[in-house]
Amino acid sequence: MTCQNDLQAVNKSDIDDYAREREKSLQRLAAIINNSVAGIISFDRQGRIKTINNAAREIFNIPLEAELRRIHEYIPQICFPANETARKMCTGIPLEETLGERTEGSALCEQGNQVMIEFSISRINIDGEDEFTAIINDISERKIAEADLIEARYIAEEASRAKSEFLSNMSHELRTPLNAVLGFSQLLEMNDFGMPHNQNIKEILNAGRHLLSLINQVLDLSRIEAEKLDLDYQDVSPAMIIVETLSLIQNTADEKQITIECDLNDLSDQIINTDPVRLKQIILNLLSNAVKYNKEQGKVSIKVEKPEVAKISIHIEDTGRGIAAEHLERIFHPFDRLDSQSYLVEGTGIGLTICRHLVQIMGGTIDVTSKPGQGSCFAVTLPC
Ligand SMILES: Nc1ncnc2c1ncn2[C@@H]1O[C@H](COP(=O)(O)OP(=O)(O)O)[C@@H](O)[C@H]1O
Ligand SMILES: [Mg+2]
Repeated sequence: MTCQNDLQAVNKSDIDDYAREREKSLQRLAAIINNSVAGIISFDRQGRIKTINNAAREIFNIPLEAELRRIHEYIPQICFPANETARKMCTGIPLEETLGERTEGSALCEQGNQVMIEFSISRINIDGEDEFTAIINDISERKIAEADLIEARYIAEEASRAKSEFLSNMSHELRTPLNAVLGFSQLLEMNDFGMPHNQNIKEILNAGRHLLSLINQVLDLSRIEAEKLDLDYQDVSPAMIIVETLSLIQNTADEKQITIECDLNDLSDQIINTDPVRLKQIILNLLSNAVKYNKEQGKVSIKVEKPEVAKISIHIEDTGRGIAAEHLERIFHPFDRLDSQSYLVEGTGIGLTICRHLVQIMGGTIDVTSKPGQGSCFAVTLPC
Protein backbone atom coordinates (compact mmCIF):
# COMPACT_ATOMS: atom_id res chain seq x y z
CA MET A 1 0.00 0.00 0.00
CA THR A 2 2.80 2.37 1.01
CA CYS A 3 4.74 1.33 -2.04
CA GLN A 4 1.86 2.18 -4.40
CA ASN A 5 1.40 5.62 -2.77
CA ASP A 6 5.11 6.32 -3.26
CA LEU A 7 4.85 5.39 -6.93
CA GLN A 8 1.88 7.69 -7.43
CA ALA A 9 3.78 10.54 -5.72
CA VAL A 10 6.83 10.00 -7.99
CA ASN A 11 4.70 9.86 -11.14
CA LYS A 12 2.82 13.00 -10.20
CA SER A 13 6.00 15.01 -9.58
CA ASP A 14 7.47 13.71 -12.89
CA ILE A 15 4.38 14.78 -14.76
CA ASP A 16 4.44 18.21 -13.11
CA ASP A 17 8.13 18.61 -14.05
CA TYR A 18 7.37 17.55 -17.61
CA ALA A 19 4.43 19.97 -17.85
CA ARG A 20 6.57 22.81 -16.50
CA GLU A 21 9.37 22.03 -18.99
CA ARG A 22 6.86 21.83 -21.83
CA GLU A 23 5.35 25.15 -20.81
CA LYS A 24 8.82 26.76 -20.74
CA SER A 25 9.71 25.37 -24.12
CA LEU A 26 6.42 26.64 -25.61
CA GLN A 27 7.12 30.08 -24.16
CA ARG A 28 10.63 30.02 -25.64
CA LEU A 29 9.26 29.03 -29.04
CA ALA A 30 6.58 31.74 -28.92
CA ALA A 31 9.25 34.33 -28.03
CA ILE A 32 11.44 33.21 -30.94
CA ILE A 33 8.52 33.36 -33.38
CA ASN A 34 7.29 36.72 -32.17
CA ASN A 35 10.71 38.33 -32.13
CA SER A 36 11.73 36.97 -35.52
CA VAL A 37 12.49 39.67 -38.10
CA ALA A 38 10.96 37.41 -40.73
CA GLY A 39 7.21 37.12 -40.95
CA ILE A 40 5.93 33.67 -39.94
CA ILE A 41 2.41 32.50 -40.72
CA SER A 42 1.01 29.01 -40.32
CA PHE A 43 -2.11 28.01 -42.19
CA ASP A 44 -4.17 24.97 -43.15
CA ARG A 45 -4.97 23.44 -46.53
CA GLN A 46 -7.86 25.87 -47.02
CA GLY A 47 -5.56 28.84 -46.39
CA ARG A 48 -7.05 29.62 -42.97
CA ILE A 49 -4.41 31.34 -40.85
CA LYS A 50 -3.69 29.55 -37.55
CA THR A 51 -0.85 31.68 -36.18
CA ILE A 52 0.80 34.91 -37.29
CA ASN A 53 3.79 36.65 -35.73
CA ASN A 54 4.42 40.38 -35.21
CA ALA A 55 6.74 40.69 -38.21
CA ALA A 56 4.09 39.24 -40.56
CA ARG A 57 1.48 41.64 -39.15
CA GLU A 58 3.89 44.47 -39.83
CA ILE A 59 4.60 43.33 -43.43
CA PHE A 60 0.89 43.06 -44.27
CA ASN A 61 -0.14 45.97 -42.02
CA ILE A 62 -2.64 43.86 -40.08
CA PRO A 63 -3.79 45.48 -36.82
CA LEU A 64 -4.20 43.17 -33.78
CA GLU A 65 -7.96 43.63 -33.74
CA ALA A 66 -8.44 42.88 -37.46
CA GLU A 67 -10.03 39.62 -38.47
CA LEU A 68 -7.50 37.51 -40.35
CA ARG A 69 -8.25 36.71 -43.99
CA ARG A 70 -7.00 33.63 -45.79
CA ILE A 71 -3.33 33.44 -46.76
CA HIS A 72 -3.97 33.73 -50.54
CA GLU A 73 -5.80 37.01 -49.96
CA TYR A 74 -2.47 38.39 -48.73
CA ILE A 75 -0.23 36.39 -51.07
CA PRO A 76 -2.27 35.90 -54.28
CA GLN A 77 0.58 33.89 -55.77
CA ILE A 78 -0.27 30.94 -53.56
CA CYS A 79 -3.22 28.96 -54.84
CA PHE A 80 -4.99 25.85 -53.63
CA PRO A 81 -6.31 23.98 -56.68
CA ALA A 82 -8.81 21.32 -55.63
CA ASN A 83 -8.24 19.15 -58.74
CA GLU A 84 -6.21 18.86 -61.93
CA THR A 85 -8.48 21.18 -63.97
CA ALA A 86 -8.29 23.84 -61.29
CA ARG A 87 -4.51 23.37 -61.18
CA LYS A 88 -4.27 24.14 -64.93
CA MET A 89 -6.38 27.29 -64.50
CA CYS A 90 -4.35 28.44 -61.52
CA THR A 91 -2.97 31.97 -62.03
CA GLY A 92 -0.44 31.61 -59.22
CA ILE A 93 1.74 28.73 -58.12
CA PRO A 94 -0.03 25.66 -56.71
CA LEU A 95 0.84 25.38 -53.02
CA GLU A 96 2.61 22.01 -53.42
CA GLU A 97 5.00 23.48 -56.00
CA THR A 98 6.15 26.31 -53.76
CA LEU A 99 7.20 23.94 -50.97
CA GLY A 100 10.85 24.44 -50.05
CA GLU A 101 11.36 26.95 -52.87
CA ARG A 102 12.39 30.54 -52.23
CA THR A 103 9.76 32.48 -54.20
CA GLU A 104 9.55 36.21 -54.92
CA GLY A 105 6.34 38.03 -55.63
CA SER A 106 4.04 40.88 -54.81
CA ALA A 107 1.65 40.65 -51.90
CA LEU A 108 -1.34 42.68 -50.74
CA CYS A 109 -1.49 44.51 -47.46
CA GLU A 110 -4.63 44.70 -45.33
CA GLN A 111 -5.39 48.13 -46.88
CA GLY A 112 -4.90 46.86 -50.43
CA ASN A 113 -1.50 48.41 -51.21
CA GLN A 114 1.24 46.22 -52.62
CA VAL A 115 4.44 45.03 -51.02
CA MET A 116 7.24 42.95 -52.57
CA ILE A 117 7.99 39.80 -50.62
CA GLU A 118 10.15 36.71 -50.70
CA PHE A 119 8.67 33.61 -49.09
CA SER A 120 9.24 29.94 -48.57
CA ILE A 121 6.67 27.44 -47.39
CA SER A 122 7.15 24.16 -45.52
CA ARG A 123 4.62 21.48 -44.64
CA ILE A 124 4.09 19.50 -41.45
CA ASN A 125 1.53 16.85 -40.71
CA ILE A 126 -0.33 17.22 -37.41
CA ASP A 127 -2.75 14.41 -36.48
CA GLY A 128 -3.12 13.43 -40.12
CA GLU A 129 -3.87 17.00 -41.22
CA ASP A 130 -1.43 19.04 -43.35
CA GLU A 131 -0.37 22.37 -41.96
CA PHE A 132 1.90 24.89 -43.67
CA THR A 133 4.32 27.50 -42.43
CA ALA A 134 5.32 30.46 -44.57
CA ILE A 135 8.49 32.41 -43.74
CA ILE A 136 8.14 35.86 -45.34
CA ASN A 137 10.55 38.75 -45.87
CA ASP A 138 9.68 42.23 -47.09
CA ILE A 139 12.02 42.90 -50.04
CA SER A 140 10.39 46.11 -51.31
CA GLU A 141 13.44 48.26 -50.51
CA ARG A 142 15.83 45.75 -52.07
CA LYS A 143 13.67 45.61 -55.21
CA ILE A 144 13.59 49.42 -55.48
CA ALA A 145 17.39 49.51 -55.07
CA GLU A 146 17.74 46.77 -57.72
CA ALA A 147 15.48 48.66 -60.13
CA ASP A 148 17.48 51.86 -59.53
CA LEU A 149 20.70 49.96 -60.21
CA ILE A 150 19.34 48.46 -63.44
CA GLU A 151 18.20 51.90 -64.57
CA ALA A 152 21.55 53.49 -63.67
CA ARG A 153 23.35 50.75 -65.59
CA TYR A 154 21.08 51.24 -68.59
CA ILE A 155 21.73 54.99 -68.56
CA ALA A 156 25.51 54.42 -68.25
CA GLU A 157 25.47 51.90 -71.11
CA GLU A 158 23.44 54.27 -73.26
CA ALA A 159 25.92 57.08 -72.55
CA SER A 160 28.85 54.81 -73.36
CA ARG A 161 27.16 53.68 -76.59
CA ALA A 162 26.51 57.30 -77.56
CA LYS A 163 30.15 58.16 -76.82
CA SER A 164 31.45 55.24 -78.92
CA GLU A 165 29.11 56.18 -81.76
CA PHE A 166 30.23 59.80 -81.59
CA LEU A 167 33.90 58.77 -81.64
CA SER A 168 33.34 56.41 -84.52
CA ASN A 169 31.41 59.00 -86.61
CA MET A 170 33.87 61.70 -85.74
CA SER A 171 36.88 59.58 -86.75
CA HIS A 172 35.20 58.76 -90.06
CA GLU A 173 34.51 62.41 -90.73
CA LEU A 174 38.09 63.39 -89.89
CA ARG A 175 39.59 60.75 -92.12
CA THR A 176 37.98 61.98 -95.33
CA PRO A 177 39.56 65.50 -95.43
CA LEU A 178 42.79 64.10 -93.98
CA ASN A 179 43.10 61.65 -96.86
CA ALA A 180 42.80 64.59 -99.24
CA VAL A 181 45.56 66.46 -97.36
CA LEU A 182 47.80 63.38 -97.50
CA GLY A 183 47.00 62.66 -101.14
CA PHE A 184 47.79 66.19 -102.34
CA SER A 185 50.94 66.35 -100.17
CA GLN A 186 52.12 63.13 -101.82
CA LEU A 187 51.52 64.70 -105.24
CA LEU A 188 53.54 67.76 -104.18
CA GLU A 189 56.31 65.49 -102.84
CA MET A 190 56.84 64.14 -106.36
CA ASN A 191 58.02 67.59 -107.50
CA ASP A 192 61.24 69.33 -106.66
CA PHE A 193 60.47 72.79 -105.27
CA GLY A 194 63.90 73.20 -103.73
CA MET A 195 64.66 73.83 -100.10
CA PRO A 196 63.01 74.61 -97.68
CA HIS A 197 59.75 73.70 -99.54
CA ASN A 198 60.67 70.04 -100.05
CA GLN A 199 61.31 69.69 -96.29
CA ASN A 200 58.04 71.49 -95.46
CA ILE A 201 56.08 69.08 -97.63
CA LYS A 202 57.77 66.15 -95.83
CA GLU A 203 56.70 67.62 -92.47
CA ILE A 204 53.09 67.96 -93.66
CA LEU A 205 53.16 64.31 -94.80
CA ASN A 206 54.70 63.06 -91.54
CA ALA A 207 52.26 64.98 -89.35
CA GLY A 208 49.36 63.89 -91.56
CA ARG A 209 50.36 60.21 -91.36
CA HIS A 210 50.72 60.47 -87.59
CA LEU A 211 47.29 62.07 -87.28
CA LEU A 212 45.80 59.34 -89.49
CA SER A 213 47.26 56.62 -87.28
CA LEU A 214 45.83 58.32 -84.15
CA ILE A 215 42.39 58.59 -85.76
CA ASN A 216 42.57 54.96 -86.83
CA GLN A 217 43.40 53.90 -83.25
CA VAL A 218 40.43 55.82 -81.84
CA LEU A 219 38.22 54.30 -84.52
CA ASP A 220 39.48 50.80 -83.65
CA LEU A 221 38.81 51.33 -79.96
CA SER A 222 35.26 52.53 -80.61
CA ARG A 223 34.65 49.55 -82.92
CA ILE A 224 35.99 47.16 -80.27
CA GLU A 225 33.82 48.76 -77.56
CA ALA A 226 30.77 48.53 -79.81
CA GLU A 227 31.74 44.89 -80.56
CA LYS A 228 31.71 45.76 -84.25
CA LEU A 229 35.27 44.75 -85.05
CA ASP A 230 35.35 41.80 -87.43
CA LEU A 231 38.54 39.85 -88.02
CA ASP A 232 39.50 38.47 -91.40
CA TYR A 233 40.99 35.06 -90.62
CA GLN A 234 43.53 33.62 -93.05
CA ASP A 235 46.46 31.19 -92.95
CA VAL A 236 49.43 33.43 -92.30
CA SER A 237 53.10 33.12 -91.46
CA PRO A 238 53.91 35.01 -88.23
CA ALA A 239 57.59 35.08 -89.33
CA MET A 240 56.66 36.96 -92.53
CA ILE A 241 54.54 39.41 -90.57
CA ILE A 242 57.37 40.02 -88.10
CA VAL A 243 59.84 40.69 -90.92
CA GLU A 244 57.41 43.12 -92.61
CA THR A 245 56.79 44.91 -89.30
CA LEU A 246 60.51 45.19 -88.56
CA SER A 247 61.03 47.10 -91.77
CA LEU A 248 58.38 49.62 -90.68
CA ILE A 249 60.07 50.31 -87.35
CA GLN A 250 63.70 50.21 -88.50
CA ASN A 251 63.99 53.95 -89.27
CA THR A 252 62.69 55.01 -85.86
CA ALA A 253 65.03 52.52 -84.19
CA ASP A 254 67.99 53.82 -86.21
CA GLU A 255 67.26 57.38 -85.08
CA LYS A 256 67.86 56.24 -81.47
CA GLN A 257 70.65 53.85 -82.50
CA ILE A 258 68.64 50.95 -81.13
CA THR A 259 69.55 47.50 -82.39
CA ILE A 260 66.75 45.05 -83.05
CA GLU A 261 67.48 41.33 -82.82
CA CYS A 262 65.12 38.78 -84.25
CA ASP A 263 65.14 35.06 -83.37
CA LEU A 264 62.56 33.00 -85.25
CA ASN A 265 63.75 29.78 -83.53
CA ASP A 266 63.27 27.59 -86.64
CA LEU A 267 59.63 28.60 -86.70
CA SER A 268 59.84 30.46 -90.01
CA ASP A 269 57.59 27.84 -91.65
CA GLN A 270 54.95 27.97 -88.94
CA ILE A 271 51.47 28.90 -90.21
CA ILE A 272 48.65 30.14 -88.02
CA ASN A 273 45.07 31.04 -88.79
CA THR A 274 44.55 34.65 -87.85
CA ASP A 275 43.94 38.16 -89.17
CA PRO A 276 47.27 39.29 -90.72
CA VAL A 277 46.47 43.02 -90.60
CA ARG A 278 45.54 42.88 -86.93
CA LEU A 279 48.51 40.66 -86.01
CA LYS A 280 50.78 43.18 -87.71
CA GLN A 281 49.07 45.97 -85.78
CA ILE A 282 49.72 44.16 -82.45
CA ILE A 283 53.39 43.49 -83.22
CA LEU A 284 53.95 47.01 -84.56
CA ASN A 285 52.40 48.51 -81.44
CA LEU A 286 54.58 46.46 -79.11
CA LEU A 287 57.71 47.04 -81.18
CA SER A 288 57.09 50.77 -81.40
CA ASN A 289 56.63 50.92 -77.59
CA ALA A 290 59.84 48.91 -77.16
CA VAL A 291 61.64 51.53 -79.25
CA LYS A 292 59.78 54.61 -77.93
CA TYR A 293 60.28 53.80 -74.24
CA ASN A 294 63.86 52.59 -74.74
CA LYS A 295 67.10 54.45 -74.12
CA GLU A 296 69.51 55.63 -76.83
CA GLN A 297 71.65 52.72 -78.11
CA GLY A 298 69.31 50.32 -76.37
CA LYS A 299 68.31 46.87 -77.57
CA VAL A 300 65.05 45.29 -78.67
CA SER A 301 64.70 41.59 -79.25
CA ILE A 302 61.84 39.74 -80.82
CA LYS A 303 61.65 36.00 -80.35
CA VAL A 304 59.17 33.36 -81.54
CA GLU A 305 58.56 30.29 -79.38
CA LYS A 306 56.23 27.35 -79.25
CA PRO A 307 55.35 26.80 -75.58
CA GLU A 308 52.80 24.09 -76.48
CA VAL A 309 51.96 22.15 -79.64
CA ALA A 310 48.89 24.27 -80.35
CA LYS A 311 50.31 27.62 -79.30
CA ILE A 312 52.77 30.14 -80.57
CA SER A 313 54.36 32.93 -78.50
CA ILE A 314 55.90 36.15 -79.73
CA HIS A 315 58.15 37.83 -77.12
CA ILE A 316 59.18 41.46 -77.52
CA GLU A 317 61.82 42.52 -75.03
CA ASP A 318 63.45 45.92 -74.54
CA THR A 319 66.16 47.50 -72.44
CA GLY A 320 64.08 50.59 -71.66
CA ARG A 321 62.97 52.25 -68.45
CA GLY A 322 60.70 49.36 -67.44
CA ILE A 323 57.33 49.51 -65.70
CA ALA A 324 56.74 49.36 -61.93
CA ALA A 325 54.89 46.21 -60.80
CA GLU A 326 51.90 48.24 -59.56
CA HIS A 327 51.48 49.80 -63.04
CA LEU A 328 51.52 46.58 -65.03
CA GLU A 329 47.71 46.48 -65.20
CA ARG A 330 47.27 50.24 -65.71
CA ILE A 331 49.19 50.27 -68.99
CA PHE A 332 46.28 48.36 -70.60
CA HIS A 333 43.69 50.94 -69.46
CA PRO A 334 42.54 53.29 -72.24
CA PHE A 335 44.23 56.72 -72.29
CA ASP A 336 46.42 55.90 -69.26
CA ARG A 337 50.00 56.90 -70.09
CA LEU A 338 51.30 56.35 -66.54
CA ASP A 339 53.43 59.40 -65.81
CA SER A 340 54.80 62.70 -67.04
CA GLN A 341 57.81 60.89 -68.51
CA SER A 342 55.50 59.13 -70.99
CA TYR A 343 54.08 62.46 -72.07
CA LEU A 344 57.48 63.49 -73.40
CA VAL A 345 56.97 60.72 -75.97
CA GLU A 346 54.22 60.94 -78.61
CA GLY A 347 51.28 58.65 -78.00
CA THR A 348 47.60 58.27 -77.14
CA GLY A 349 47.66 55.65 -74.39
CA ILE A 350 45.30 53.31 -76.25
CA GLY A 351 47.80 51.17 -78.19
CA LEU A 352 48.03 48.47 -75.51
CA THR A 353 44.27 48.59 -74.85
CA ILE A 354 43.68 47.79 -78.51
CA CYS A 355 46.43 45.11 -78.49
CA ARG A 356 44.88 43.32 -75.51
CA HIS A 357 41.37 43.42 -77.05
CA LEU A 358 42.66 42.15 -80.40
CA VAL A 359 44.67 39.32 -78.81
CA GLN A 360 41.64 38.31 -76.75
CA ILE A 361 39.36 38.33 -79.82
CA MET A 362 41.96 36.07 -81.50
CA GLY A 363 41.65 33.67 -78.55
CA GLY A 364 45.10 34.45 -77.16
CA THR A 365 46.69 36.22 -74.20
CA ILE A 366 49.11 39.08 -73.69
CA ASP A 367 51.41 39.13 -70.66
CA VAL A 368 54.02 41.57 -69.49
CA THR A 369 56.96 41.24 -67.13
CA SER A 370 59.21 44.14 -66.30
CA LYS A 371 62.14 45.22 -64.19
CA PRO A 372 62.09 49.00 -63.59
CA GLY A 373 65.28 50.56 -64.91
CA GLN A 374 66.20 47.43 -66.88
CA GLY A 375 63.45 46.75 -69.39
CA SER A 376 60.17 45.01 -70.16
CA CYS A 377 59.04 41.91 -72.00
CA PHE A 378 55.64 41.60 -73.67
CA ALA A 379 54.54 38.09 -74.68
CA VAL A 380 51.66 37.48 -77.06
CA THR A 381 50.47 33.87 -77.09
CA LEU A 382 48.09 32.79 -79.85
CA PRO A 383 46.48 29.48 -80.74
CA CYS A 384 47.81 27.84 -83.87
N1 LIG B 1 57.91 48.84 -73.49
C1 LIG B 1 57.50 49.73 -72.57
N2 LIG B 1 58.35 50.19 -71.63
C2 LIG B 1 57.95 51.08 -70.71
N3 LIG B 1 56.73 51.60 -70.64
C3 LIG B 1 55.80 51.18 -71.54
C4 LIG B 1 56.16 50.24 -72.56
N4 LIG B 1 55.06 50.02 -73.31
C5 LIG B 1 54.08 50.80 -72.78
N5 LIG B 1 54.52 51.51 -71.73
C6 LIG B 1 53.74 52.45 -70.88
O1 LIG B 1 52.37 52.14 -71.06
C7 LIG B 1 51.63 53.28 -71.52
C8 LIG B 1 50.52 52.81 -72.45
O2 LIG B 1 51.07 52.29 -73.66
P1 LIG B 1 50.24 52.40 -75.00
O3 LIG B 1 48.87 51.93 -74.72
O4 LIG B 1 51.01 51.75 -76.08
O5 LIG B 1 50.10 53.96 -75.24
P2 LIG B 1 51.12 55.05 -75.79
O6 LIG B 1 52.37 54.38 -76.24
O7 LIG B 1 50.39 55.71 -76.90
O8 LIG B 1 51.32 55.99 -74.63
C9 LIG B 1 52.68 54.16 -72.18
O9 LIG B 1 52.28 55.52 -72.16
C10 LIG B 1 53.89 53.91 -71.32
O10 LIG B 1 53.85 54.71 -70.15
MG1 LIG C 1 52.00 52.68 -77.71
